Amino acid sequence: MLQARDIRKHYGGVHALKGANFDLRPGEVHALVGENGAGKSTLARILAGSTRADGGSILRDGREVRIASPLDAQRLGIGIIYQELDLFPNLTAGENIVAGNLRFREGAMVRFGEMERFCRPFLAQAGLSCPVDTPAGELSIGQQQMLAIARALSMDARILLMDEPTSSLFDDAAERLFELIAGLKMRGVSIVYVSHKMDEIFRIADRATVLRDGETVGTVEIAATSVESIIRTMVGRDVTIAQRAGRGPAGEVALEVDGLTTAKLRGVSFTVHRGEVLGIAGLVGSGRSELGAALAGLDRVVSGAIRARGGFGLVPEDRRVEGLMMRMSVLENGTIAVLPRVSRAGFVARTAERRMLDPVAAGLALNCPSMDAPVSQLSGGNQQKVLLARWLLVNPDILFLDDPTRGIDVGAKQDIYRMVEELARAGKAILLVSSELPELLRLSDRIVVLHEGRVAARYDAEEATQERIMAAATAASGTGARPQ
Ligand SMILES: Nc1ncnc2c1ncn2[C@@H]1O[C@H](COP(=O)(O)OP(=O)(O)OP(=O)(O)O)[C@@H](O)[C@H]1O
Ligand SMILES: [Mg+2]
Repeated sequence: MLQARDIRKHYGGVHALKGANFDLRPGEVHALVGENGAGKSTLARILAGSTRADGGSILRDGREVRIASPLDAQRLGIGIIYQELDLFPNLTAGENIVAGNLRFREGAMVRFGEMERFCRPFLAQAGLSCPVDTPAGELSIGQQQMLAIARALSMDARILLMDEPTSSLFDDAAERLFELIAGLKMRGVSIVYVSHKMDEIFRIADRATVLRDGETVGTVEIAATSVESIIRTMVGRDVTIAQRAGRGPAGEVALEVDGLTTAKLRGVSFTVHRGEVLGIAGLVGSGRSELGAALAGLDRVVSGAIRARGGFGLVPEDRRVEGLMMRMSVLENGTIAVLPRVSRAGFVARTAERRMLDPVAAGLALNCPSMDAPVSQLSGGNQQKVLLARWLLVNPDILFLDDPTRGIDVGAKQDIYRMVEELARAGKAILLVSSELPELLRLSDRIVVLHEGRVAARYDAEEATQERIMAAATAASGTGARPQ
C-alpha cells in the first residue's frame, strides 16, 4: 500500500534520517520502533506531508507519489495523529475536526447542525463523549488525544499513522484504542504504530520496522521475534532491565497531606517519608495531576492542610504547555530554575551554566544536536529529559513527578528508574504519577489510587497488583481494594 525507499532528511548538521526504508501491507498494523531521536516521528511526518524529505521516494500502491502537503497526504488516504498534538485550543472539538478536512471547502462557513452530524460518529468511535462545541483547550491531554484520533478518522484514511497515541492514555482508554484499531484493520485500514511500549506492540502489531540513528536496521514479523531481540536491534547492544532495587527504611515524614480539598480533590490524605517513593495511580481526570498542582500552590486549597518539610518541585505532565519554553535553548530550559546560582550581578555565566547542566544531561543520556539548540528541535523523549534535568538541578527535598517517562524509550526508561531510585536513596521524598502500571509497581514503596478526586485505595508495594489498582481506579468492587 505504501512504500518508503531510502528516505533522507537533515536539519542543518543533524541527519534525522539517513536511509529509512519501510513498506506497509493492506490491513496490517506495522510498528515503528527505535530509541529517542531515531527518526520515527520524522518519517511519519514525511509520509503525512508535514515535513519534506531531502531524498528518497514514496510509492502508493506501487506508483511513485509526491507528498508535499498534508492535503496531498489526505488525497492519498493517509491520516496522522501527531506525537505532539496539533489541535487548535481556541477552536471547538467540532471545528478542529472540520478545519483542514477536504470535505469542507476552505473558508466556507459550516453550520453547527451539519458539523455536529458529521463529527458525532467519529467522536463516538474515538470514545470521546464531550459536546461538539467544547473548546479543545478545555479537554484533558487524554481527551485531546481522542479528539486527534476522531479527526484522523474523519479524513477517511486508508493508512493511519499513529505517533505514540497511548502516551497520555490510561489503560482503559488505551484498551478502547486497541479495539478501534482492530475494527479499522478489519475494514482493511493499515496502521503505522509508533510506540515505545513493547507490550502494546506485541499485542497489536503484525510486523515491526526498527530505526536506528535514522536508518532502517530491519523489519520483523512480530510472531517470530521477542522483546529482547527487538530491543537489541534498536540499541545495537544488550540492555539489562534492572529489577526493583531494595531500599532502606524510610526516614522522617517529609510531606503530610490532611483532608486536602480543592476544586478537583475531595479530602485527600497521605504522608510521604524521606527516602520513599509514593506511587499515585488513577485514570486521566482522577485528580492525580491536580494533586501536583495543589501541592505546588498552583490550585486554590479550599480546605485541609499541607505540611512540607523542605522544598517542593513539580515536573508537570504536559511538557509543552506547563514545562518547556519551546523556542529557548536546551541550556536555557535546563538551568532556568537555578539561574541565581550561575549569575553574577545579573549576568548569566554561560560556562558555569554549562558545567552545571552537562553531567545531569549525561546522566539522563540526553541526545540533542547542541545545548544551544531550541528544545523544539529535540525528539519528544529528549524534550522530556530536559524537563527532568531542570528539576534534578533544583534538587528539591520533595519531588512530584507527573508521568516522567512519557515518550521515553526502553533503554532511557531504565536510566530514569535508576535516577528515581538514587534520589530516594539520597533521602528525597518522591511522589510518582504514572500511566504505566508496571512502572508504578516497579518503583513505588506504597501506592495511593485516586478516583474522582478521592483516595479510593492504598496499597503497600507487596500487596499491589495491576488488577487491584485498575479495579480501584475504575471503582469496581469486590477486588480486595481497601476503600477509604
Ligand atoms: N525541526 C527540527 N530541527 C532540528 N532537528 C530536528 C528537528 N526535528 C527533529 N530533529 C532531530 O531529528 C532527529 C530525529 O527526531 P525524531 O523526532 O524523528 O525522533 P523520534 O524517533 O521520533 O524520537 P522520540 O522517540 O523521542 O519521539 C533527532 O535528533 C532530532 O533532534
Ligand atoms: Mg517521536
